[in-house]
Amino acid sequence: MDIFRTKSVEQSIRDTEAPEHRLRKRLTAVDLTVFGIGVIIGTGIFVLTGQVAREMAGPAVAISFVVAGVVCGLAALCYAEFASTIPVAGSAYTFSFATLGEFPAWIIGWDLLLEMALAAAVVAVGWSGYFSALLTSAGVHLPPSIAGEDPVVDVPAMAVVLILTAVLIAGIKLSSRVNLVIVIIKVTVVLLVILAGLFFISMANYTPFVPEPQPTPTVEGVQAPLIQVLFGITPVAFGVLGIFTAAAIVFFAFIGFDIVATAAEETIEPQRALPRGILGSLVICTLLYVAVSLVVVGMQPYTELSTAAPLADAFTAVGQPWAAALISIGAIAGLTTVVMILMLGQTRVLFAMCRDGLLPRPLAKVHPRTGTPALLTAIVGVVAALLAGFISLSALAELVNIGTLFAFVVVSAGVIILRRTRPDLPRAFRAPLVPLLPILSVLACLYLMLNLPVETWLRFLIWMVIGAVLYFAYGYRHSMVAEPGRRS
Ligand code: ALA
Repeated sequence: MDIFRTKSVEQSIRDTEAPEHRLRKRLTAVDLTVFGIGVIIGTGIFVLTGQVAREMAGPAVAISFVVAGVVCGLAALCYAEFASTIPVAGSAYTFSFATLGEFPAWIIGWDLLLEMALAAAVVAVGWSGYFSALLTSAGVHLPPSIAGEDPVVDVPAMAVVLILTAVLIAGIKLSSRVNLVIVIIKVTVVLLVILAGLFFISMANYTPFVPEPQPTPTVEGVQAPLIQVLFGITPVAFGVLGIFTAAAIVFFAFIGFDIVATAAEETIEPQRALPRGILGSLVICTLLYVAVSLVVVGMQPYTELSTAAPLADAFTAVGQPWAAALISIGAIAGLTTVVMILMLGQTRVLFAMCRDGLLPRPLAKVHPRTGTPALLTAIVGVVAALLAGFISLSALAELVNIGTLFAFVVVSAGVIILRRTRPDLPRAFRAPLVPLLPILSVLACLYLMLNLPVETWLRFLIWMVIGAVLYFAYGYRHSMVAEPGRRS
């Protein structure tokens, strides 16, 4: 039994040409950068900033954003090298198939499904919260059973997922146009926060910039971070260590640049465009995040920041409710594209897995008119809508972080492996300082993973065990690598 059989880079690229499975090439480097910004800026900056500044880092939250940005930057350089070498839908899944073998690739694909399905549902529920709040402020009250704090069925969340599914089915260029319009609104709002906020900064709020360290109330059992259980380290709030604990949380704000790589097959000149899209969107978002967090902690003492809507509430606190209303609209727009592109990424990873036969191959058919994997997209949309509508997922959000970090570790390690096994491949983009940089990336991601609760690790392991069972029951026997004769 050879579960580590690899699929050559050449075969992966040839598979993208099969008429039934060919996606339309429409995206440019600029489209990809806008895609990246569309999926990166979301709950992280609009919600987490306040919580983290207040509870863990104080004004130094801006440094936490820099730290998380650097960790992501290391991984992004590895993603950029891979994407420029193997421009095939599926991102980390495809990269692992070429380097580590079929079973590890399946595990990564399965892991990405967890990341994106959960993240799309979690963000859709957040979207619904903002949307209901905006309607309420406009005097429209939805029944509590279908919207609001704890509905029986979250109808707005389901509706937004289904509408976005229809857009995704209609075509990649349409999706990219919708994204562009929304990203313009979102970035304008973020710039408004930065520029308008500058007028309300009080320098006194920056002292102390790094508040004195304080032990956090001890968290016990499965709620405790793994690092605490393994090494007996107690998490500290504030101080220099607090900056790093906070970085593990605001990491969520950066998730998304990795999803740019899933659109590889729909990109014109992918070898050059992908590295630009991945790195460009990450750099732009990091700069915006650092600026926003510096402004927000300057507007209000960090102890008074709101945890639900810190950006909007900071403006209300300085007597500018008009800006608060605009920011809420920006947040709704912002979360819309996050949901849409997370689902886009998920369909493309599934598409690659089905095309390889690890999941039923007929699902990977591309619709002749729209050029998108319509059936798969519809399935993903319905599953995400059901998750968002019926399950309270906020507790599962940390699973998204662990899933993403795991993929980063594998991709970073994969860069070193592929340099050794296939030094001959043309690489339009080469990550600098290999193997030092990928090793640092692996260590940094592992450190952040250790900061996640034991409970999250257990849930993650259970998901992986289910994946392994499915692989041996179905994927191993149906894999195209085992039976290339069935390739169409
Ligand atoms: N980075 C995305 C967000 O912050 C997932 O919502």
